[in-house]
Amino acid sequence: MSRVALVTGGAGGIGSAIVEALVRSGMRVAIADLDSAACVRMAESLGDARTTLGVELDVTSPVSVTAAVRAAEHGLGSIDVLVNCAGWDELRPFLETDEAFRARILEINLAGPLRVTHAVLGGMVERRFGRVIQIASDAGRVGSSLESVYAAAKGGLIAFAKSVAREVARSGVTSNSVCPGPTQTPLIEGMAAADERGRKIVDGLARAIPMGRMGLPADVAPAVAFLASDAAGFITGQTLSVSGGLTMA
Ligand SMILES: NC(=O)c1ccc[n+]([C@@H]2O[C@H](COP(=O)([O-])OP(=O)(O)OC[C@H]3O[C@@H](n4cnc5c(N)ncnc54)[C@H](O)[C@@H]3O)[C@@H](O)[C@H]2O)c1
Repeated sequence: MSRVALVTGGAGGIGSAIVEALVRSGMRVAIADLDSAACVRMAESLGDARTTLGVELDVTSPVSVTAAVRAAEHGLGSIDVLVNCAGWDELRPFLETDEAFRARILEINLAGPLRVTHAVLGGMVERRFGRVIQIASDAGRVGSSLESVYAAAKGGLIAFAKSVAREVARSGVTSNSVCPGPTQTPLIEGMAAADERGRKIVDGLARAIPMGRMGLPADVAPAVAFLASDAAGFITGQTLSVSGGLTMA
């Protein structure tokens, strides 16, 4: 039987490219996102009820996470591959952030992925197979102006992925992070469109990329599909940047 994957944020820019790559690799894929209508549309366009499933998910809600994992497993079978891709950010100087903003960023980008990982990891360990991939960010490796809270969350996610990798290393489960650099999606387009400062930051990031262009979702997806594959079974605790050389480590 083919592997089953759950992709959070699966209706988004990078998430939908990851979903398509996993479907192409022969996996059955649950597409989970706040935008449940988009998930259902994607599932119907990519396969049938046995191969692709749209699931409503809010990673900030424990009840929603439990329900989404249950729905995915009921529809497609036990989850072998988890890709935590749901995320959100807004450019803001740290001194202009408040409790509510910081809590929201940490909840969506750090606590949420931990919650979804917790919901599926036990089953993976029991079945002695699993691939967990966190979509972090180069901001979490090297920092990023106006993204300090987001960078803290993504840096935390990278550390979490490494620590879990150690804990489950002998269970057939791998845990890795993929860090996109600036990538053309609704998220970054929204930042650039927000105001003059956002436009300047995004333009500056794009100019700093050695390969001379911003990333595309289709640049990120193959790296995730590889780490999700059976072939990547001896790779764990790693952090892979897909950023046209913006960060080299
Ligand atoms: N675009 C970039 O430049 C860039 C760079 C580095 C990292 N990333 C990361 O890549 C991932 C995907 O980002 P993107 O650029 O495709 O953004 P996007 O806005 O296109 O997609 C994000 C998706 O996450 C979903 N989402 C948001 N909050 C959610 C929640 N609480 N529960 C479930 N789903 C939720 C949204 O509905 C959306 O479909 C994010 O984790 C982001 O932090 C993006």
